[in-house]
Amino acid sequence: MCGIVGYLGPRDAAPILLAGLTRLEYRGYDSAGVAVQTESGLTLRKLAGRIGGLKIALGRDPVTGSCGIAHTRWATHGAPNERNAHPHVDCTGQIAVVHNGIIENADVLRTRLECCGHHFVTETDTETLAHLIEDADGPTLESRVIAALTHVEGTYGLAVIAAGEPDKIVVARRGSPVLLGVGEQEYFVASDASAVLEHTRSVVYLDDGDIAVLTRTGYHVIDREARVQTRPVNALDWDLEQIALGEYSHFMLKEICEQPRTLQETLRGRLLFADGTARLNGLNLTPEDCRTLGRIVIVACGTSWHAGLAGRHIIEALAGVPVQVEYASEFRYRQPVGMPGALTIAISQSGETADTLEALRAARAAGSKVIGVVNVVGSTIAREADGGIYLHAGPEIGVASTKAFTSQITALLLLGLYLARHRGLSLGDGRKMVEQLARLPDLAAEALQIEGEIKALAQSYVEERNALYLGRGINFPVALEGALKLKEISYIHAEGYPAAEMKHGPIALIDQDMPVIFLAPKDAVYPKVISNMQEVKARGGRIIAITSKGNGDLRGLVDHQLSVPPSPSLLSPVLTVIPLQLFAYHIAAMRGYDVDRPRNLAKSVTVE
Ligand code: AGP
Ligand code: GLU
Repeated sequence: MCGIVGYLGPRDAAPILLAGLTRLEYRGYDSAGVAVQTESGLTLRKLAGRIGGLKIALGRDPVTGSCGIAHTRWATHGAPNERNAHPHVDCTGQIAVVHNGIIENADVLRTRLECCGHHFVTETDTETLAHLIEDADGPTLESRVIAALTHVEGTYGLAVIAAGEPDKIVVARRGSPVLLGVGEQEYFVASDASAVLEHTRSVVYLDDGDIAVLTRTGYHVIDREARVQTRPVNALDWDLEQIALGEYSHFMLKEICEQPRTLQETLRGRLLFADGTARLNGLNLTPEDCRTLGRIVIVACGTSWHAGLAGRHIIEALAGVPVQVEYASEFRYRQPVGMPGALTIAISQSGETADTLEALRAARAAGSKVIGVVNVVGSTIAREADGGIYLHAGPEIGVASTKAFTSQITALLLLGLYLARHRGLSLGDGRKMVEQLARLPDLAAEALQIEGEIKALAQSYVEERNALYLGRGINFPVALEGALKLKEISYIHAEGYPAAEMKHGPIALIDQDMPVIFLAPKDAVYPKVISNMQEVKARGGRIIAITSKGNGDLRGLVDHQLSVPPSPSLLSPVLTVIPLQLFAYHIAAMRGYDVDRPRNLAKSVTVE
């Protein structure tokens, strides 16, 4: 949720802050604002709507200064309007704060502060921070921030500047990501690395409880007791091309089309043909751990949860380990049982999803070893896990996850193979699996070749108001994922169901106004899927089938057939999801919606 940016250095801050906000806009985009230290004190500019509007406002009425903070918002408390846009200030207007997260005791704090004479002007929880800092005693801004935060319950990634202490930015982190960018005599603050990459590759990831103080001569990190903390400077391995749109009209389409390459990156250096297994450095599971593993618990949200459901099929089939898949947001509030001896896998593209992070912490507290399957290097989940697998899929900018999903499935296939080879899978079978995995990028490239056909098909479905996605076995999670893609970017109501489950209720929905998309690769459950298609056909339903190339069985049964290359069943989700990604993309684009920044959504859900 939301993005924060800060700059302190020799250059004019406003253009750098705006460029940083633009890079972070995918994280939240209902309003935006900047605060810059100028000769006359703190100058603010805030607007409802996208960052483009703020750019125009600043072009008309520039703000000059070389120290500033900025924010692009995803509202949790208070309408997404100009008044509630960040930065927020104290009564004097001398302290400005930008904040990502939720102040859970904001109401109590507000009442207490109002009783002491403070005057609030917004509906947000964040404004309490500005008044708490104003109210706090201390010789320095950082000591007042530390004092203020002792009253706060909830989560924050925040940056503060004060007119009374120019050339200083104080940053604090608890539960929402924030990092420092270290340049040549200039320093940056950002919610994620995409906002600083064009200026520096050197970043410092703050941990929960850290307070960072940036001045013109450098930065230091302290804890709540003001004890100096040492944090490593990491080198970013991205490049600007990866966060540039190129010739594509949307990041989502770029990320769908680059899946052959990103699958290659996920597999790179990890396929060991001679040993018939996967090399997963950093997993931190010994052969003994693999052999004695009693149970796996997967915790995730959204698309990552769908990948987890497919992972259950993969790991149970290959390694014979029972797997339970949990919504992270549900798991974290249960009393997990039998966790000692279990392995918990937190799947998260961003590595910052609050519910998944807290589920990881709950699993560890209950005695489980935890690993992460994560895309963003250095993210909180990656750093808090005992080990893990990075996707290496590059930054995913489109809010609707696509390349991360197929890379998550691939990472889980690698994990399943790795575990299986320690649990009795033969060398020969391992080598066969390695060969199959090595072909995935080419098969994905082949699956992408039907984009033109899908774009034409989308024309016939652009006005739909509902859709049903049905699949069996390992393709049931793909049905869920296809439905999520359609609903989150085209706002068409779509549901995914196990194909057999349709008979237990959803079949009542079938008529000519309910398009049904079937996942029907030619696998062990294919004949049963055909029966379900017959049931839909008999009730006047319209059918689109995703099936294996060369399959001639469906003529006369389905209204449209989209073919993907045949593959072993366990690998099929990587391919069958591609037409569904493209279908959702083209419908949303034809409906004229902002595909990369759908309404009400944000890329990384760092609030609960
Ligand atoms: C997927 O298209 C959605 N944007 C959303 O469901 C996402 O998968 C979910 O918020 C989990 O995000 P994560 O993988 O970064 O944890
Ligand atoms: N809770 C704060 C607000 O509603 C910050 C939300 C966010 O993370 O963008 O303004």
